[in-house]
Amino acid sequence: METSNTPQIKLSMTPLFSADDIAARIKALAAEIDRDYRGKEILMIAVLKGSFLFIADLIRAVDTPSVIDFVRLASYGSATQSSGIIEVRKDLEMSIKDKHVLVVEDIVDSGLTLESLREMLLNRQPASLKICTLIDKQAQRVTEVPVDYVGFSMDDGFIVGYGLDLDEKYRDLPDIRVVEGT
Ligand code: IMP
Ligand code: MG
Repeated sequence: METSNTPQIKLSMTPLFSADDIAARIKALAAEIDRDYRGKEILMIAVLKGSFLFIADLIRAVDTPSVIDFVRLASYGSATQSSGIIEVRKDLEMSIKDKHVLVVEDIVDSGLTLESLREMLLNRQPASLKICTLIDKQAQRVTEVPVDYVGFSMDDGFIVGYGLDLDEKYRDLPDIRVVEGT
């Protein structure tokens, strides 16, 4: 991570989505998911670390019976830009074969992280595979990856809070803010 070695830059943060905004969107997403998965069991996969708060709130908002597993991916690159080279740091512990898998992501940005995860999961033959992201950042998309549930869309800008970090900081903020000065 470059930023830890560079001199301290003064950052400013502008509120983007409040804790109430986030809670309201999650309630609506959960209702949509419940409609789509009626009579089924969901295997939710959290893509660590960024989605840990989102999945914690989403899995409690959804009424459909759900189990959870975690995957940790790392993409090489700078703190704010994906390189597209993805490493699996921690694989799933459950088999997803014949399960209804819902991947829960924090942000889809270039789409490269999700594309390689999707390919890896499809090889394991789930009954179905859908993707839910809290934030869809469209400006930097370089690959078309199908996203089934979107919390919020935004064009560009780097955001932190509610699980999202800048160099591992600010994940603990209850709301989402745009960072300037990175
Ligand atoms: P992608 O491969 O470019 O789609 O990278 C997506 C991943 O990069 C997300 O899952 C985040 O972990 C990280 N990321 C992208 N944009 C932001 C941001 O604005 N704030 C924090 N993390 C971000
Ligand atoms: Mg992530």
